[in-house]
Amino acid sequence: MSNPSIAFIGAGNMAAALIGGLIADGTGAYRITASDPDQDKCNALSAATGIRTTTDNLQAVSAADVVVLAVKPQVLQQVATSLKGAVQQHRPLVLSIAAGVRSQTLDGWLGGSTALVRCMPNTPAMLQCGATGLYANQQVSDIQREQAESIMRAVGLTTWVPDENLMDAVTAVSGSGPAYFFLVMEAMQAGAEQLGLDADSARLLTLQTALGAARMAIESPESPATLRERVTSPGGTTEQALLSLENDQLREIFARALTAARDRSLELSQLLAND
Ligand SMILES: NC(=O)c1ccc[n+]([C@@H]2O[C@H](COP(=O)([O-])OP(=O)(O)OC[C@H]3O[C@@H](n4cnc5c(N)ncnc54)[C@H](OP(=O)(O)O)[C@@H]3O)[C@@H](O)[C@H]2O)c1
Repeated sequence: MSNPSIAFIGAGNMAAALIGGLIADGTGAYRITASDPDQDKCNALSAATGIRTTTDNLQAVSAADVVVLAVKPQVLQQVATSLKGAVQQHRPLVLSIAAGVRSQTLDGWLGGSTALVRCMPNTPAMLQCGATGLYANQQVSDIQREQAESIMRAVGLTTWVPDENLMDAVTAVSGSGPAYFFLVMEAMQAGAEQLGLDADSARLLTLQTALGAARMAIESPESPATLRERVTSPGGTTEQALLSLENDQLREIFARALTAARDRSLELSQLLAND
């Protein structure tokens, strides 16, 4: 099935980003349906993308090869339970983008033996520049893995993890990660202003440098460590700044921050499983 029909349950920010990405990638609007209780949201999405929309989740699921659950984690149990009969009858591939809800928990709500892919996208997905970690349960076929991956690739890069526990690490790295870089940008901008640059120049120089460094790191075959060494002349200015950051234990600071985020992700998913 190379052209699956796709139903989005929940037509919020992430669903709209995915649908926009799929259509920009050449997926026919006729293959996509989205359902949401908010009729105005449905009308706006239909008008913007040409897809079919409905306020009836069951209607959306009934003809879908792939169902993307794009509601908030807090309402997922109620939504999944109400779809159980249709999912058991039609057996679609189910993608869940809800943070923290384990595949076994979701599979239980959907009636069992569901082909399930858990996806953890991040906010740059809204600009088709996201990074998504994916995990597939045992029921997912190779073709379904490709279908899941091609949907998430519509909003950026994807990578699979072999063990669901690693989804908490994905959450800590790329899910929460944009905020870490925003904090670094804030700190650099403030430092630039302390050195006497005006706010506009501090902002422009900081943000363009972040973008340029990210592009170099992505586009170069070299590791970030090699790129860093190349721009660090012995006795130069960069070396002094890097020595200061290393002395202040930047690496340990990041390791502790990521561990704290991973542990919180684990705690939250346990809370959602016990609800
Ligand atoms: N945004 C991100 O960067 C991001 C990153 C990673 C993962 N996620 C995950 O993506 C999911 C969606 O996030 P979002 O930011 O797109 O949230 P959102 O904008 O609130 O979208 C959720 C949509 O689901 C609708 N909804 C509520 N109850 C429903 C029901 N019973 N049936 C169908 N639709 C229903 C909501 O309608 P109302 O507004 O009327 O309630 C809303 O339009 C979440 O589970 C989140 O964890 C998001």
